[in-house]
Amino acid sequence: MARVLILDSVDRSLAAELESHGISVSDLAKAEPAAVEAALPEAEGIVVRSRTQVTAAMIGQARRLRVIGRAGAGTDNIDKDAAHARGIEVLTVPGGNDRAVAELVLTFLFAFSRQLVPAVDASRRGEWAKSKLGGFELGGETLGIIGLGKIGKTLAELAQGLDLEILGFDPFVDPSEWTTPKVAKCALPDLLERSRFVSVHVPLAPATRGLLGAEELARMRPEAYLIQCARGGVVDEDALADALEGGRLAGAGLDVFSTEPKIPPRLAQNPRVLATPHIGASTEQAQTKIARLLAGSLVRFLQG
Ligand code: MLT
Repeated sequence: MARVLILDSVDRSLAAELESHGISVSDLAKAEPAAVEAALPEAEGIVVRSRTQVTAAMIGQARRLRVIGRAGAGTDNIDKDAAHARGIEVLTVPGGNDRAVAELVLTFLFAFSRQLVPAVDASRRGEWAKSKLGGFELGGETLGIIGLGKIGKTLAELAQGLDLEILGFDPFVDPSEWTTPKVAKCALPDLLERSRFVSVHVPLAPATRGLLGAEELARMRPEAYLIQCARGGVVDEDALADALEGGRLAGAGLDVFSTEPKIPPRLAQNPRVLATPHIGASTEQAQTKIARLLAGSLVRFLQG
């Protein structure tokens, strides 16, 4: 009987679906590292989200491993070279969390435009801070989307419904070929200079590491906000902290960090930052969809 280890928290329906096909499942998402190490040599499949780093050493320990199921889109936490060298398949679920991530981006936009967090904080302190809490409407503002894959496109669709003007940068996608949403393609410097909100939606790869560094951030308007719900490492976090501390950027909504599961203190404690612990894909709907799709792929793979 094929044995699959679940190493990160995923929807329970994934295990149930595998078991209904006769696949034995051990949920080790909350187990101590020693228990995971002990189970690895017998595993034919492992399932991870973004928390577990699937290293070459781990792959080496899993002598019978045939497949790595990534309950999500990115594979930057998996040593793919080590996996492919052993002929181990890496299965992902592109598209499972598009809506969830796009909605989190909009949550940041609304929170910044209406000073939601300062307003709630003041109310909790017993203050009536109405006179300090003027906001602005999103309609007519410009949203620049870097990366026009599935998530970038979903965000553009939702943003269009809010009457945001949408700029897009992606060397591989021409949004003029889309019937909807309407996205004006432009060069990265132009997008950075014109947008009130800039949202990043590219995978982490050698070409995108540090894509937004000091030079790029300096192009943004002082009243602009950066939203980063893609992958830690795409934005230079020190340069971002410098820009925020120097008042050269109005704020940043950050869900992903190069230091996960820690948030750099300069960012976490900056009042201009709204930081969340990589919850972009953590909606009921995304997680059940991802579980269903990944279970289907794993069953097909393991049962030939
Ligand atoms: C994804 O790649 O879809 C997410 O980062 C998965 C996660 O939330 O861990």
